[in-house]
Amino acid sequence: MHAIPPGSTVAVIGSGAMGAGIAQVAATAGHQVLLFDTRADAADTAIAGIGKTYAKLVEKGRMGAVESDLARERLKRIASLHEAASAVLVIEAIVESLDAKRFLFAELEGIVGQHCILATNTSSISVTAIGAQLKHPERLVGMHFFNPVPLMALVEVISGLATGRDVANVVHATAESWGKSPVHAKSTPGFIVNRVARPYYAEALRLLLEQAADVATLDAVMRDCGGFRMGPFELMDLIGHDVNFSVTNSVFAAYYNDPRFTPSILQQELVSAGFLGRKTGRGFYRYGDDVAKLAP
Ligand code: NAI
Repeated sequence: MHAIPPGSTVAVIGSGAMGAGIAQVAATAGHQVLLFDTRADAADTAIAGIGKTYAKLVEKGRMGAVESDLARERLKRIASLHEAASAVLVIEAIVESLDAKRFLFAELEGIVGQHCILATNTSSISVTAIGAQLKHPERLVGMHFFNPVPLMALVEVISGLATGRDVANVVHATAESWGKSPVHAKSTPGFIVNRVARPYYAEALRLLLEQAADVATLDAVMRDCGGFRMGPFELMDLIGHDVNFSVTNSVFAAYYNDPRFTPSILQQELVSAGFLGRKTGRGFYRYGDDVAKLAP
């Protein structure tokens, strides 16, 4: 199956942490990339951030100056979803809410062409459910990237019950052509990684509540001795507690409140306080100048 060719237009809806990363990867791969967000300056901020990343890559000799300029020029903010009409692939990276995603895709269906593929970056919501009310649910597929998108190779290509095989194959081939390592998976709650990772967070949170050890010790043990790339708390801070709490709730509900997936009161508290992790400067750790310090 052929990948979506460079030069064609990819629209990214939602320009937060994930949308910005996806837009960067798509622009680097040669696509015209349209970014949309309901937050006034989010898309411009994302594009400015990507520009800075490209400049750093040029400085380090990992990207040519001309290549970087061209990729930067391929990124464009759009002020209305209607401007996404020319897209052949739309990737949604908005808030982790079934209603919000359904609403968005219903609107997009009335805007894009009949061959446009609609992809969701949802971490945990059923792709079958997101697509269920569409006129053409066969063109809705999960394209689940990992954070930070430019660095993480894995992309889970998620097929809901109605997803067309060709659609999943095109998205798989496209992710490969973007330098990623995609895998096909069926739409089950949490898919592969978020399902396996739930107990990693849940047990770490239980250990903390039982005062077995502090955050830094638990992270250090798993990172430095356990062989994990990141400890559970620093990883939750990176993901964002709003996002991670939504994913926990969604997996818990999808498995009929299986106690293994019970959300932690600590997650609820962090979200209520607005301590969402790196993106707000505070989560389990405090952040400033890219240096993580233990939150008191
Ligand atoms: P974020 O909070 O950084 O960004 C979400 C953006 O979407 C915000 O800028 C918000 O203004 C915008 N938005 C919300 N509703 C919108 C709408 N209806 N139309 C257009 N824009 C809208 O969140 P993040 O971390 O980028 O996550 C986005 C999606 O990606 C979620 O579904 C999340 O579960 C998924 N995801 C997140 C990962 C993570 O590590 N943070 C990893 C993989 C997937």
